[in-house]
Amino acid sequence: MAKRIRKAVFPVAGLGTRVLPATKVIPKEMLTVVDRPVLQHCVEEAIEAGIEHFVFVTGRNKAVIEDHFDHAYELEATLKARGKTKELEALLADTPAAGATSFTRQQAPLGLGHAVWCARDIVGDEPFAVLLPDMITLPGARGGRCLKQCIDAHNAHGGNIIAVEEVRASDTHMYGIVSVGKAFDHVFEISGMVEKPPQGTAPSNLIISGRYILEPSVFGVLENIGAGAGGEIQLTDGMKKLAETSPFFGVRFDGKTYDTGSKVGFLAANVAFALSRPDIAPDFRKELKKIVGTL
Ligand code: UTP
Repeated sequence: MAKRIRKAVFPVAGLGTRVLPATKVIPKEMLTVVDRPVLQHCVEEAIEAGIEHFVFVTGRNKAVIEDHFDHAYELEATLKARGKTKELEALLADTPAAGATSFTRQQAPLGLGHAVWCARDIVGDEPFAVLLPDMITLPGARGGRCLKQCIDAHNAHGGNIIAVEEVRASDTHMYGIVSVGKAFDHVFEISGMVEKPPQGTAPSNLIISGRYILEPSVFGVLENIGAGAGGEIQLTDGMKKLAETSPFFGVRFDGKTYDTGSKVGFLAANVAFALSRPDIAPDFRKELKKIVGTL
């Protein structure tokens, strides 16, 4: 039987250069989609998937992330004194339990693979999840957001899991792409991976989309992999090496994913997440119709 996935790693040490100047002092993971930071959407996705321990790989100027997942005593006391019970209860419900978070630093942004490797001692010797926090997801018809669908696949097949999504064939050169082996419904064996293949050479139009379940042996691989594309230690390179000895499965996520690390993706995420919220959607839809009417 597959081991239970208890820990999730959130690499949040990147510079966020695509959304400057917003990210000059605010970490991109703390930019707000509707009424909560992008990173909180990811943590909620992880909680829904059964994750119990949240490991954040941060960098300099990211201390506000740590504060966000802690109590805010002055604010809580003021809300209490003013009788704002609903707001107070919502804040407390969002605060992780004592000991359920860990923070470590990636001192220099040497790449996603290096960021994941920085979590090795906290994760220890058990399979774990990785969520790229600039990707946020809305549930699909199969049930649950992306990480839940990955964990369901891990429970059924074991091994390492990568969430994938379809893109237009003309866009494959911008992403990590997987090759499809034997398929079991929406889950399939991954028979190869390639990072940013030149146009016209991609083995499929399925991109690696930002949710992973990895065996702990990936840490030993990442330690020795060396710099790849862009001079960075690439997670895809580590996974390719690990795939020589350990099975990898792709999961076709049937919900929606938004890349909040790009300006257009960030705007689209705000619209889609607002429309998914029963408390906001009715009023927001009216405003949106006014704007759409002018297009
Ligand atoms: P990105 O390449 O999207 O992040 O990495 P970035 O470098 O912040 O973005 P741009 O391109 O400059 O706008 C995907 C994820 O990996 C993390 C990022 O924080 C992001 O969540 N990351 C990337 C690290 O934690 N460390 C790194 O060295 C690189």
